[in-house]
Amino acid sequence: MKQEFIRNFAIISHIDHGKSTLSDRLMEATKTVSDREKAPQLLDSMGVEQAHGVTVKSRTVQNHYLGNDGHEYQLNLIDTPGHVDFNYEVTKSLSATDGVILLVDATQGVQAQTVANWRLAHDLGLPILPVLNKIDSASAQIEETEQQIIDLDPSLAAQEIYHVSAKTGLGISELLEAIVHELPAPTGDEKAPLKALVFDSEYDAFKGVIAQVRVIDGSLTKGNSLVLMANGQKLLAKEVGVYRPDRVPADGLGAGEVGYVVTGIKDPKQVTVGDTLTSQQAPTKAPLPGYQKSQPVVYAGIYPVGDYKVLQEALQKLALNDTSLVLTDDQSEAMGPGFRAGFLGIFHLQIIKERLETEFGVEVVVTAPNVSYKVQVAQKGKEIETVIVNNPTRFPEFSQVLAVEEPMVQATITTPNESVNALMKLADDYRGEFADMGNQGDYVRLVYKMPLSEIAYDFFNQLKSISHGYASFSTAAIGYQEADLVKVDVQINYATVDALSFVIHRSRVEEQTQKLVHELKMTVPRRLYPMPVQAVVEGRVVARVDVPPLRKNVAVNGSSYSISKKQALLRRQSANKRQAAQSDIELPQAVFNTLLSLN
Ligand code: GTP
Repeated sequence: MKQEFIRNFAIISHIDHGKSTLSDRLMEATKTVSDREKAPQLLDSMGVEQAHGVTVKSRTVQNHYLGNDGHEYQLNLIDTPGHVDFNYEVTKSLSATDGVILLVDATQGVQAQTVANWRLAHDLGLPILPVLNKIDSASAQIEETEQQIIDLDPSLAAQEIYHVSAKTGLGISELLEAIVHELPAPTGDEKAPLKALVFDSEYDAFKGVIAQVRVIDGSLTKGNSLVLMANGQKLLAKEVGVYRPDRVPADGLGAGEVGYVVTGIKDPKQVTVGDTLTSQQAPTKAPLPGYQKSQPVVYAGIYPVGDYKVLQEALQKLALNDTSLVLTDDQSEAMGPGFRAGFLGIFHLQIIKERLETEFGVEVVVTAPNVSYKVQVAQKGKEIETVIVNNPTRFPEFSQVLAVEEPMVQATITTPNESVNALMKLADDYRGEFADMGNQGDYVRLVYKMPLSEIAYDFFNQLKSISHGYASFSTAAIGYQEADLVKVDVQINYATVDALSFVIHRSRVEEQTQKLVHELKMTVPRRLYPMPVQAVVEGRVVARVDVPPLRKNVAVNGSSYSISKKQALLRRQSANKRQAAQSDIELPQAVFNTLLSLN
């Protein structure tokens, strides 16, 4: 198709502001999906997306729209996730587009991810089409929300802000016209050598790696000999096509078009998202700039319950589809070979665990997550060095630790008046340092400096529950700060279980370790003999409980035995105990969940 009739755009917004529902309406209005195929949030087709009601992956769809000017347009829409943990998906998608729809729920107004996603689009210089959604709702605040959008981006004051109800379809035809007239067409060089951006990829059991591409210059046809510029990997375009929203083969993709290429490559590691695809015969001179690697926020160990190889394969395929998942090999004494994985947040971790289970049928144990620490280490005869620790198991020996720094964030909480006191107490409990306070309309804005480790887990849930869902929360990384942090080792039956180690503020040690050992008493699998569970900090036992035995100790309690028989039984039992001790304690997921439930 001629580029002047193509529009490539992403829909961005805060979580739940209606992107997937709006995509449904646009696909219906353009007859991309028939009445028979219609389903709410059709693009959220992954099991985990339906289970949680959120978008996890961006999805691309090609729609054909007959404009009021009589021309047929190709509208390539990308539905993006709104949850902060999937922000990297938005970044990737935006580089395949020429403009965005900034969707704002008129009942909620501009929220943290509205601002964050707007900034991504703005920094890339993408034209922005502002749209208010949910105008059918009685609680829609149209003027206020329009003002918030203009406050966010004063340049939008000159533009029309469109009003729609993605639910009822109100305003959709006007929006389609606005997309055609207000968002720009691509401007690639059709005659130049092929230059295509691989902005996403997926793994198909039969076809291998399928690369999602945006053709910048030139064109791409089935059967072309291609090369990925980053690693020189050659490939043949076995199939080329578009998403409608399922894959539909096509003859080729022209400049400005978005679609997919079946690469025939079976090893997921050979295809990197952000790479440039070009022709082997007539390559483009310079590759596209690609993507910056995403920076994990939390880390956790992932270990197989069954076969390690099966987990390895599944994780590689997942990492192809989710490039914000960062993996390194790991070996734990307690858990055996596994992976150390970096995630963009706790929800991301949860989704990866669920995707492993539902999409790959792989059951795993995930250790308690942690952030990364900077530890200053002094070793005899060596200069002081700073090591980055993102696995508590590798936390240096306490006698060598000079100082520990943890990542900090500036947390901005916006809340109705009534919850201010309770939220200030909450921030205090989570080691927040008060920084600022001010009014923002009917709301109060609280600013705190907080350790990332404190907010990475359940802070958000607490905040929502205390404010009855009204408070919103955003964070910005502000570097590292020294804190009195110590490593807690957990011993079961006198053996340290490396995968259970964690790092904690010294002021919390007593309360948290007591709570931990008492909860572990319930989750550590029982044996025929009692097993001590203890928490050790800096070589000192700080908390201890005994996990009761599975059955009564026959040797001690059996009254019908003679003394000598009892002694023989005791001897045998203690020999068994020694043998059984240490090596073979199996740790189910429940044990690691105990660590998660602290706080
Ligand atoms: P994420 O991708 O997870 O960020 O969500 P989303 O932005 O795609 O939102 P989604 O389309 O899943 O809609 C969220 C909720 O808002 C759903 O319950 C929708 O039914 C509802 N919703 C969407 N659009 C409208 C609307 O125009 N009016 C009303 N009343 N509800 C809407």
